[in-house]
Amino acid sequence: MMIVTLYLTPESQFSKKALVLSESRVNPYFIKMFLKDKEQPFSSILATRLSRRGFVKGLGIAAGAGLTVGCATLTSKEQAAFKFKEVPHGLDEFVTLPPGYDYQVVMRWGDPLFSEAAAFEPLAQTGEKQLKQFGFNNDYIGFLPLSNEQRQSTHGLLVVNHEHTKAKLMHPGATNDCDLTLEQTKVDIAAHGVSVLEVRKDAETWQVVKNSRFNRRITPETPMRMTGPAAGSKRLISKSSENGVDSRGTCANCAGGITPWGTVLTAEENVDQFFTGDIEQLAEKRNYQRMIFSGEPEKSWSRHFERWDLNKNPNEGNHMGWIVEIDPFDPNSVPKKRTALGRFKHEACNLFINRDGRVVAYMGDDEKFEYVYRFVSKRRFRNQSDSESATFNANLLEEGTLSAAKFDDAGRLTWLPLVFGEDGLGPENDFHSQADVVIEARRAADIVGATPMDRPEDIEVNPVSHKVYVMLTKNKSRKTDQLDGANPRALNRGGQIVELTAPGGDHTADIFEWDMLLLCGDPNTCVTNYHSETTPNGWLSCPDNCTFDNQGNLWAATDGAEDFGVADGLWAIQTEGEKRGYARRFLRVPIGAELCGPYFTPDNKTLFCAVQHPGGDGSFDKPDTRWPDFDVTLPPRPAVIAIYKKDGGVIGS
Ligand code: FEO
Ligand code: CA
Ligand code: CA
Repeated sequence: MMIVTLYLTPESQFSKKALVLSESRVNPYFIKMFLKDKEQPFSSILATRLSRRGFVKGLGIAAGAGLTVGCATLTSKEQAAFKFKEVPHGLDEFVTLPPGYDYQVVMRWGDPLFSEAAAFEPLAQTGEKQLKQFGFNNDYIGFLPLSNEQRQSTHGLLVVNHEHTKAKLMHPGATNDCDLTLEQTKVDIAAHGVSVLEVRKDAETWQVVKNSRFNRRITPETPMRMTGPAAGSKRLISKSSENGVDSRGTCANCAGGITPWGTVLTAEENVDQFFTGDIEQLAEKRNYQRMIFSGEPEKSWSRHFERWDLNKNPNEGNHMGWIVEIDPFDPNSVPKKRTALGRFKHEACNLFINRDGRVVAYMGDDEKFEYVYRFVSKRRFRNQSDSESATFNANLLEEGTLSAAKFDDAGRLTWLPLVFGEDGLGPENDFHSQADVVIEARRAADIVGATPMDRPEDIEVNPVSHKVYVMLTKNKSRKTDQLDGANPRALNRGGQIVELTAPGGDHTADIFEWDMLLLCGDPNTCVTNYHSETTPNGWLSCPDNCTFDNQGNLWAATDGAEDFGVADGLWAIQTEGEKRGYARRFLRVPIGAELCGPYFTPDNKTLFCAVQHPGGDGSFDKPDTRWPDFDVTLPPRPAVIAIYKKDGGVIGS
């Protein structure tokens, strides 16, 4: 591998230097990423699990085997070229797709999840209604097949995060988020969290099954449980948790991931915004300040509920900032906060089953100059479908080794373990247990010398090549004396995509190689490295969420293109072969929106996407758009859409 280190200063941003990047390669469907070999376990285990629980009849090995078809690794030469016509840059009120494609809205903010739920009435919204309706600002989407082989791409559970809210888009007359009435605040809280919904495609249309036993709203008030090294820590004892084990709710749910045992991981990201208090006076001052808790009111929650006032409930802030595991197939299950995976501003969490059976999780901490993390489970995934193995696998994220990434300029990545008592993580630095290490994972990573990155967002494993792709969205604060190989541009507006390669395919190895896949941004104003055939519409900026198609192409969603005067959207990117670094625009979102949660069904014929904060700079009273309803009585509404090819074909083909 060859890495050319070229630090890009603001002065050089207008000189289009060609970067010489190494040859590398690539990627398909999420289940395949878990497969060690062609025997593969995941789908059969999930199917059997469902069958065991009596939710679905007639599933078994056959369904599992069906999912394994085509999982042989593609070579770089086989990575298919994109056949869709590129969508031009632009900025308007619509979702724009290539000719031959269309979309339908599956769920919008306020849509009922249950038969008995109230219809959406924006002028008469209440907290009680919102608890049974789809939440605001949809982000992560996971699709878990629920049916047999024939319907695995047309019947399943959608699990959708609701990352945050914006009062001025939700309530008439509202001007900010920290001045809401009690009822508005109840709406605000209930609009956060996660939605689980059963969906099925009949004829051409996806329908939500409103009387499904699986449908569920998980909110900042839902009972949860701490597991792993921080469970029971005195630093978690609060008014809502007398034992430091019981916990309440999840919030700031950004992206996530799906596990091979059929659960969903949701990532708590910007958790600082909900808490108020005089941080300077708190015993947790250093911890909260490292998590950028200002204590200033950004939301109304602490005005009406003292749980969110750190002066009255000083440890409550330690209950947020985790990866939470949800079993969507059991609507009565208690979600588990997996403290072994560390506490920081989690963007997402994507798993890979290593060839020795250990579970590897890749995670980013989305704040400028924060870190990339990896977790390796202590125990090994059991490739059997009996109930004992299912129970065993369900606890794999309780124990393991968390590490932070150090990138050097020669293309080497070193995983630095965050283990109590090692490398300065002991009493000399005020760590007294592994609980302290995971609660203050950022400070631990500072001490071991991890590399501060340009805002790590989604990190996903390519299920064809098993390489790992890190979306670094941007960092306008990086200065010329803070550059390094993996973060080579000052005042970075465009972001970059970094590729990690595990040696010999061993994702538990201490040392990886890394390479720069793409320096993003408008090539007219930034130094970029797109493939030369990328058109003037093919550049993207601020990569955020991503996914892969069955051919091994990376699909990157963006959040920040309006800084460059164009709408955000979705781009297909080749990661291997002659056209490595070639990007083609597939989708444009409406003005003010970012695109989140891209997720293909197993057959790649439906692509679910989350359109987040459409019309985000306007207000309920003066909207910039009324997408998706274009009804003068309705505000713009965040929504999950299902994209399809009109001829019924594979997306991108
Ligand atoms: Fe919630 Fe980092 O995007
Ligand atoms: Ca994101
Ligand atoms: Ca974002």
